[in-house]
Formats: sequence, C-alpha cells, structure tokens
Amino acid sequence: VFRQPIMAGNWKMNPTTESDALNLAIGFCALVDTLEDTCGLDESDTCTEVVLFPPFPFISKVKDIVSEKGVTVGAQQVYYEDKGAFTGSVAASMVKSVGCEYVLCGHSERRTLFSDSDVNINAKVKKVLEFGMKPILCIGETQEEYDLGITEEVCAMQVSKDLAGVSKKDLENVVLAYEPVWAIGTGLVCDAEDANKVHKFIRTVLAKMYDEEAAQSIRIQYGGSVTPESVDGLMAMSDIDGCLVGGASLFSDKFARICNFK
Ligand code: G3H
Repeated sequence: VFRQPIMAGNWKMNPTTESDALNLAIGFCALVDTLEDTCGLDESDTCTEVVLFPPFPFISKVKDIVSEKGVTVGAQQVYYEDKGAFTGSVAASMVKSVGCEYVLCGHSERRTLFSDSDVNINAKVKKVLEFGMKPILCIGETQEEYDLGITEEVCAMQVSKDLAGVSKKDLENVVLAYEPVWAIGTGLVCDAEDANKVHKFIRTVLAKMYDEEAAQSIRIQYGGSVTPESVDGLMAMSDIDGCLVGGASLFSDKFARICNFK
C-alpha cells in the first residue's frame, strides 16, 4: 500500500507577533525550494504533503504566503459545537471558511492543559470530518505510562474512544499522530525502531475496529522532538508516514530540511 508522506509543522503558541509569523512562513517557502530534494511541494501524488498549523490569528495570511508552494494550513484545535455562546472558542466552520484543510485533535497539550477528554476529542474529530476537513488525531503515552509498560494499552484505548462512530469511509480522511508525551519538547526523540513498533501495533488495533485495508491505508505520523538529525531515520521505517513537528518547525531551515527528508 502506498501512503503519501505528510509533514506537519505545529507552531503551538508561537511566534508571538504577526510579523514574526509571516516572516517564518516566507523564510520556510524560500528555503524549502533551495534544498536538494524539493519533492514534496508540487502536486504529484508521490510527493510529500506539507501542512502548517499557525495560531488562529495568523492562519489566513500564512495560507496566502504558502499556498503557491502547495503547502496547506490547518488549525491547532476547534470546539465541537457549531456556533453560539462559547466565548473564546472557534468553530470548525470558521477555520474551514478561512482555508484550513486539517485540524489537530487530541494533542497532548490540549489533553493535559485544557482537559480535553476522549469524549470531547471524539466529538471534535467528527465535527472536523462533518465540515470536510481532515483531523490529525494525536495519541500517545505519558512518561508514567511508558515506565509502567502500558504504551500499547494507552494507544489502543485512545484510538478506540477517539474514533468511536467514525465510519471506514470517513477514516480515509483521518491522519494519526503517535506522540509519546515524554518525547514532546524534551529533546528525547523516540528510537525509530521503537516508534515503528507502536505504529504497527496501532494498525493492528485499526484492523480490529475496521479491517486490514483501512489499517494499512491510514497515515500515521510520529511526533516528539523531531529534528533534521532524526528525521531520515524515522522516515526510513516501514510504518512511519510523516512527522508532526513542534519546536523545529519554528526554524525555517530546520523544518525545510525535515520536509525534504532523505
Ligand atoms: O505537535 C508537535 C509535537 O507536540 C511535538 O513537539 O517537536 O517540540 O517535540 P516537539
């Protein structure tokens, strides 16, 4: 089964001003063209898909800058209600209307800092799909769960709860991101072979929930301290289809090199 690689840059709550954000986007577009392997930024099926997740206020202008390179944009989060008295929240229709194609769902920072439960995450995944966008569903074990040796149990539980009621047809528009929480922002990238084993395990969970075809077709990113130094080893793995990059995506040269992995 061919799975198109997908690289995503999650800027989180950075950069802190619009001008810095636009300069980051401009710098990335300029650099990614100059690197040796520019596969990934044209329309061909065999190329890498690249998605940026800027903070909400910068999405539209970043999209205007990067779209001519074939780079798409997404939202870091949405609320699951359609509209109404939910001060501070952003609806799926809103980010869709400014050109978002992807939405991150269940990122560990949302789970821990903003109490996103699996029930809420499931509602958000469905809302994103309802509006014709693609959720990138983030799952992964904490340090404590890793130490307890329950990585597989945690991932299986998150996949089953967060995708409950999502049809096989809709699953075609879902991307998964395996992000061991202990690897996020710590510089402790997961060993590529170890990450690949978890990715394979996640496919066995999906095969039971759906079928083997669905399990083999879905793209699964790895996330957690990905750098230009670690990306090639990760992408050489059979079941790692891309990376969800935080810190390194804030440096145009680093993220360009990651997108142009070898
Ligand atoms: O969304 C991205 C992940 O949380 C990874 O962040 O690359 O800074 O470890 P990081």
